[in-house]
Amino acid sequence: MAVIVRPFLSPFLSFSHKALRWKATTATLLKHSKASAASIEKSKSKSKPKALVLEKRRTRSGVEVDLGLLRRYKDNNTPHLPVLLCEVLRCFQPLSLRSFVDCTVGAGSHSCAVIEAHEEMELYVGMDVDPAAHKLALPRFHDLVSNRTPKLNTYTQLTNFKNIKRVLHAIAIKDDSLVVSTGVDGIFIDLGVSSMQVDCSERGFSVLHDGPLDMRMDPQGSLKAEDILNSWPEDEIGRILRDFGEESNWMYLQKQIVTARASRPFNSTGQLLKLIRKNTTLSQGRKGWMKTATRVFQALRIAVNQELETLEDTLYSCFDCLAPGGRLAVISFHSLEDRIVKQTFLNLVNHGGRPNVNQHEDNDHHCKEDISEVEVEGDGETWFKDRVHGRYGTIMTKRPITPSLEEETFNPRCRSAKLRVLQKPSSPR
Ligand SMILES: C[S@@+](CC[C@H](N)C(=O)[O-])C[C@H]1O[C@@H](n2cnc3c(N)ncnc32)[C@H](O)[C@@H]1O
Repeated sequence: MAVIVRPFLSPFLSFSHKALRWKATTATLLKHSKASAASIEKSKSKSKPKALVLEKRRTRSGVEVDLGLLRRYKDNNTPHLPVLLCEVLRCFQPLSLRSFVDCTVGAGSHSCAVIEAHEEMELYVGMDVDPAAHKLALPRFHDLVSNRTPKLNTYTQLTNFKNIKRVLHAIAIKDDSLVVSTGVDGIFIDLGVSSMQVDCSERGFSVLHDGPLDMRMDPQGSLKAEDILNSWPEDEIGRILRDFGEESNWMYLQKQIVTARASRPFNSTGQLLKLIRKNTTLSQGRKGWMKTATRVFQALRIAVNQELETLEDTLYSCFDCLAPGGRLAVISFHSLEDRIVKQTFLNLVNHGGRPNVNQHEDNDHHCKEDISEVEVEGDGETWFKDRVHGRYGTIMTKRPITPSLEEETFNPRCRSAKLRVLQKPSSPR
């Protein structure tokens, strides 16, 4: 905001001290004007709708969305629309992607698009814990690679992505001619649940359908949501509602859950929703109780699948598996995941792994010294905007990239997605 300062406001200025006093008066006026400008700004931003303030904080993607491409990857068999697909393709585009790992295959749409975009690819590895995802993705891969030259070796594994090192090691032993021994050129993680999982009421993920309180992404997993609700101690239930659901009313809800289960154990999502609805204040309306329900479901899902525990370890493992110049791209869907990705990426570029308390200062020192030396593959990719250079790599996305308005309109489920990308230096340090 422009601030107009009128220098001749005071009638008490004597001529001899005019210059001095004018300076002092101006300084005071400026100070007050700045203060009032700041308070106007503050009150302006207070009165701004929350959505507008949040919108300002986002780094929406500037990549033109190719709706035709998105539609190509959605049909009745594969109802999952790949999120930030054009951005994911752009992020791997400058690399010679001889080897690629998709840690979360789902229906395989991201994988298929990356495979199609990189004819040079010799090795593809896909992982997912959900056999239903494999069932959908495998025929798509088969159609794509069966007549391909040069030959593309594809390995799909029904396993947790935390096992990435073990999986790649086993592939390297099986066929030592494969590029995997030098590290892989690209790794992709698309966290969260797929539309196939959310829309299947039998899986128990959705607040919109009644179903069993399951929520396992891996049907072989031993823990279900109903086990948590029916047998975990009260304070443990409270802890997950607070830490994984970021639910402010966690203490009250934990008590209600424990009281309710004493008379009738939980066995359906509908039963849990009824309890949440009854215990959410009326002033919050329908949206209020649905929001609480979404947070409670998120907390249970994270706990059932141990999502946060495995994420950090997996990011470190992925970095170790990357070839020099290789990229790791991660899409997250809630702030807890995104915080882990952000902090782990910083640790990786600054320390090359988990920060060791004793190494801390030493590495930070090197990091500053080495900043200008870091070679960034594909420099000039302006769509990435700001980067963070460290001794052991570059974070290509200082702020995460979020879907464009156009993509959000086309696929509202993508609205909370955030993409962060990291690149290893081309020459090993
Ligand atoms: C958002 S979907 C991926 C969609 C996929 N990118 C596509 O184009 O269809 C996430 C997938 O990750 C899987 N998943 C979640 N956590 C996992 C883990 N720890 N290890 C392996 N797969 C996981 C889920 O089963 C789900 O199929």
